[in-house]
Amino acid sequence: MMMGIHELRCTGCAREIAQEALGGNFRCADCGDLYEVTYPGWNGAGHKSGHTHPNPSALRWLWRERRMSAETSDRSGVWRFREMLPILSDERNIVSLGEGNTPLYDLPRTAQRLGMTGLRAKHQGMNPTGSFKDTGMTAALSVARERGFTWVACASTGNTSAAMAAYAARAGMRSLVLLPEGKTAWGKLAQAMDYGALVLQLKADFDGCVRVLAEVVERAPVYLLNSVNPYRIEGQKTPALEIAEQMEWEVPDHLIVPGGNMANSSALGKGFLEMKRLGLTARVPRISVIQAEGANPLVRAMRETGGERLEPVEAQTRASAIRIGNPASWRKAVGVIRETGGLVEQVSEAEIALAKAEIGAEGIGCEPASAVTLAGLKKLRQQGEVDAEESVVLLLTGHTLKDPDYTIQFHRGELLTDAESAGFHAEIGSLRRNTVELEANTDAVLRELERAGR
Ligand code: F0G
Repeated sequence: MMMGIHELRCTGCAREIAQEALGGNFRCADCGDLYEVTYPGWNGAGHKSGHTHPNPSALRWLWRERRMSAETSDRSGVWRFREMLPILSDERNIVSLGEGNTPLYDLPRTAQRLGMTGLRAKHQGMNPTGSFKDTGMTAALSVARERGFTWVACASTGNTSAAMAAYAARAGMRSLVLLPEGKTAWGKLAQAMDYGALVLQLKADFDGCVRVLAEVVERAPVYLLNSVNPYRIEGQKTPALEIAEQMEWEVPDHLIVPGGNMANSSALGKGFLEMKRLGLTARVPRISVIQAEGANPLVRAMRETGGERLEPVEAQTRASAIRIGNPASWRKAVGVIRETGGLVEQVSEAEIALAKAEIGAEGIGCEPASAVTLAGLKKLRQQGEVDAEESVVLLLTGHTLKDPDYTIQFHRGELLTDAESAGFHAEIGSLRRNTVELEANTDAVLRELERAGR
């Protein structure tokens, strides 16, 4: 059995409710804002007297030991930290594909180019379905199973649908996916189909799909698995624990995250802040959010209103995962940015494509939306916002195989318009690696080898 009782607190008006009182749209009945999960036990007498319970060293030891266990839930990079997310009544409801435990890679060549000493990438694309969504999905889908639902549903730019469809299939549940027609990368669409989801492509963008689904969940007994679901956030905060563990319970100075619907930045912020509160770590990193220029409602909200109001935009970017104009979790993200001293920045289509190729050239690779992190870091370095000695972790959210069309078009020189690539020709030229078509002839191959500089 999992220990602990959780409650839900509205992030808008601070109203607290019991878990059973949570409505199907996960919004506060009073103010319409989103809930977050809280754990009243963490404020107990033990904590106030200076001792957290259980003790941080014991937890760190236990979490590491569990990786050696034969139990799937112990080995999972989400559930081995289950003391940090006691959201289930019964562990037997856990639906896991062995998510999390993703690598924290050094990026030595990129660091050198940027004149930095410590640059790393936490690659959440190395999850079972190839994106960071798996950590949130195992948490929220396990809750859906515990509550007895047979259908789960999401609106998605692709990765959430792939994750949801896989976890639902594992649990023997049915899944309904709403996608913006013609705007989903093939890898992701193929996954949702492969895992047996009911896939509906709507003549709408992501924000339109969200609107339709909000009405569907009012009228059909389906459990909503978009990131407005606060249990998603509980799973998605665990990479923060992993990063700390991978750094021997230090934390980086700075974590840089892509911003779409803004759940990920919120979740990682929650993870780092809770770790500090429980005495697991001494401080929190700055958490900065980077958006594509054509899908930048948060950047505008911060610059124009100091984060007080957000005007939805009509989003346009080839980084289709973050083609989102009306982000659900923006207020939570603003809270995290303010509390951690983070920054927001926007990057162009050419900057994203270049950064993606640079991450590829490190032997790592990622999908376009993930590459906004490096593109943003380059800009922040130029502006003097990031020091040479600062330890920085880029959060890579999706695997490079999610969107191979984008990669191939870049290397063929077919991705960007002339206007978009203006000013970047030299850099693009040095990173492009198009294929060469040849006769099956040894001399021809040797000539190419020679040309490429053996
Ligand atoms: N990176 C990738 C690869 C994503 O798939 C997403 C979001 C994000 C970044 C942005 O994360 O929304 O938490 O700010 N994808 C969602 C989806 C919207 O439906 O798969 P966020």
